[in-house]
Amino acid sequence: MTILFHEQSGEFHLYNDHISYIIKILKNKQLGNLYYGKKIRDRDSFAHLLEGGLRSLAAYVYEDDYHFSLQHTRQEYPSYGTTDFRYPAFEIKQENGSSISNFEYQSHEIFKGKKKLSGLPATYVEDAHEADTLEITLYDALIDSEILLSYTIFNEMAVITRNTKFTNNGEQKIILNRAMSTSIDLPDYDYEMIHLAGAWSRERHVKTRKLEQGTQGIYSLRGASSAEHNPFLVLKRPGADEFAGEVYGFSLVYSGNFLAQAEVDTHDATRVIMGIHPDQFEWELASGEAFQTPEAVMVYSDHGLNQMSQTYHELYRTRLVRGHWRDLVRPILINNWEATSFEFTEDKILAIATTAKNLGMELFVLDDGWFGARNHDRAGLGDWVVNSEKLPEGIKGLANKIEAIGMKFGLWFEPEMVNKDSDLYRMHPDWIISTPGRHASPSRNQYVLDFSRKEVVDYIYGSMSKVLSESAITYVKWDMNRYITECYSIAQEISGQGKVFHLYILGVYDLYERLTSKFPHILFESCSSGGARFDPGLLYYAPQTWTSDDTDAVERLKIQYGTSFVYPVSSMGAHVSEVPNQQLGRITPIDTRANVAYFGAFGYELDLNELTDVEQERVRQQVAFAKEYRALIQKGKFHRLLSPFGHNVTAWMVVSQEKNEAIVGYYQVLNGVNQGFRRLMLAGLDPDKQYCINGVQERVHYGDELMSAGLVIRQDELCTEGAADFTSVLYVLKRI
Ligand code: DGJ
Repeated sequence: MTILFHEQSGEFHLYNDHISYIIKILKNKQLGNLYYGKKIRDRDSFAHLLEGGLRSLAAYVYEDDYHFSLQHTRQEYPSYGTTDFRYPAFEIKQENGSSISNFEYQSHEIFKGKKKLSGLPATYVEDAHEADTLEITLYDALIDSEILLSYTIFNEMAVITRNTKFTNNGEQKIILNRAMSTSIDLPDYDYEMIHLAGAWSRERHVKTRKLEQGTQGIYSLRGASSAEHNPFLVLKRPGADEFAGEVYGFSLVYSGNFLAQAEVDTHDATRVIMGIHPDQFEWELASGEAFQTPEAVMVYSDHGLNQMSQTYHELYRTRLVRGHWRDLVRPILINNWEATSFEFTEDKILAIATTAKNLGMELFVLDDGWFGARNHDRAGLGDWVVNSEKLPEGIKGLANKIEAIGMKFGLWFEPEMVNKDSDLYRMHPDWIISTPGRHASPSRNQYVLDFSRKEVVDYIYGSMSKVLSESAITYVKWDMNRYITECYSIAQEISGQGKVFHLYILGVYDLYERLTSKFPHILFESCSSGGARFDPGLLYYAPQTWTSDDTDAVERLKIQYGTSFVYPVSSMGAHVSEVPNQQLGRITPIDTRANVAYFGAFGYELDLNELTDVEQERVRQQVAFAKEYRALIQKGKFHRLLSPFGHNVTAWMVVSQEKNEAIVGYYQVLNGVNQGFRRLMLAGLDPDKQYCINGVQERVHYGDELMSAGLVIRQDELCTEGAADFTSVLYVLKRI
């Protein structure tokens, strides 16, 4: 058992070989935090870690104890206004208008395994021995309500997951105005905060800043986790880097509005809170009702950022992603979007698919434009019936022909949206999210269906199920191309409008759950104008996500590097596309495009028939390479070596779990004149074993040499294709 309760001191110690997390029942019966970090040996009490002292202007809990102010106490799940003035973890408004509460320790339970979260995605265990869970019940007698704090510690990983459940047992109704998934108070603020910021086509760029007194945070109020900020935050010691130093990661398993914030008080303590964004959120709980927060996943590393990311990768790849495809290598696909946009015929599609098959690809994905009056982005969304002008034999006919070629078939949907020019909208104009009496703002000419309403989700489920059951479909790309404006649901009462953003996401999860259960063999890829909803919540249903609409190899270095902070390589859709690149016009060698895309769920997105014979031959070799190494790349340990942010050279590598194979990707953006020599320090190899590089007998080195003296990079090895810039090289290492 990795959770101890010391009854005398009222302390809980959650620990494994990597981490310790220590909670104390405080004098006022609320919960304090004594420690979170590298594993320390247990003792009966760590009460000395509970600091307190006389401070002018402080308010105290008790008249006779000038040492006990919540403002200066590190807490587990703090409230506002009872001597603590910082941003709280929760806020409950009561019928008398007060938001003051007092949740005291009532009981706890420790058990093996981990419970499911009803209606919400979450990490899981396959065997109860993989993790232990502590549930602490807090109780506020005045309002007869409970808070259940749940902590799961994974035995083999430096991971603690948290979630919170509120239950109103009382007569009066209460209103949740804030309900964070996690809150942790750390004793100092000597940290840098890292987060992943961006926009369409430049998602998840790595940003780093020093923590300062006051609040610093990231958020989304767009109805989706968003391209702008990812629900993920890191605090790292200033000296920590990819390979060394202390790092705390926080990741939210949620796809809607969120807040992740670090508050440093003026006595130098840091509070991190993470959860559903409290703005635009208001949840009334009538007597007997409960509210469950999403899960937050906290990862600790004392070996830098790479170790933190590797822990997230392992956890999310094996204990968040589910189902048939979880452990399978991903099919190498060809997608028609950048090749044809909305303009295609069946012949055109079959021509691309035939060439794709000849070059070794395995799956054809038909993107936007196959349904309703979808000849442009102004019509058709919502009408999930085939456009028979483009595809006279229907999806069924096309899927059969693709299967006859020897490929699998995949199909694009955008289930949550509708165009006004659609049969669905003409039938149900009141199904969109919009505020009565107010203008409804368009985005990409489309509107958001009110997924907080069951009948809307049911309808979409029915129409998608029909298509998916009628035809041989093994893959679905689920797109979502706008954020939510004028959020309001006519199906909710006036007092329920603060629920709509969250109910919407629950509706999305519900549809995913129903479709993935009914069609377990289908591989789902989530997408949102590229990577505007790349979050752990959706990975629970869709094992991979389209990383970005930006398929330029150089831009992708930054996007994939940033994404890898938390998400596994196997989850990142990555395609080779045409040049000049459609997003920014850059021309990169076809080998560099593949050398970047290999480090993802690999595929192509261009008209293969427009390639020269020489290029097609390269593609054939690339596909063969991807097939040979995809298991290693998708399941190995990923190490970031050199960052693309602010540097001309990027490098990363994947090492197999047994350390007998590795692949290194090395990328140089601009060429330089008369450049210096370069050695690349590798990581994660067995220091005592010899590795042969790219099968060259003269290039055999011990792992320790490759990790300390480095791998000598030879400029003449970088692919050029006549171009001096945007070059790259892959090194395949095999243990001998
Ligand atoms: C946005 C996606 O990111 C693209 O890959 C493509 O599917 C388009 N939507 C289609 O409208």
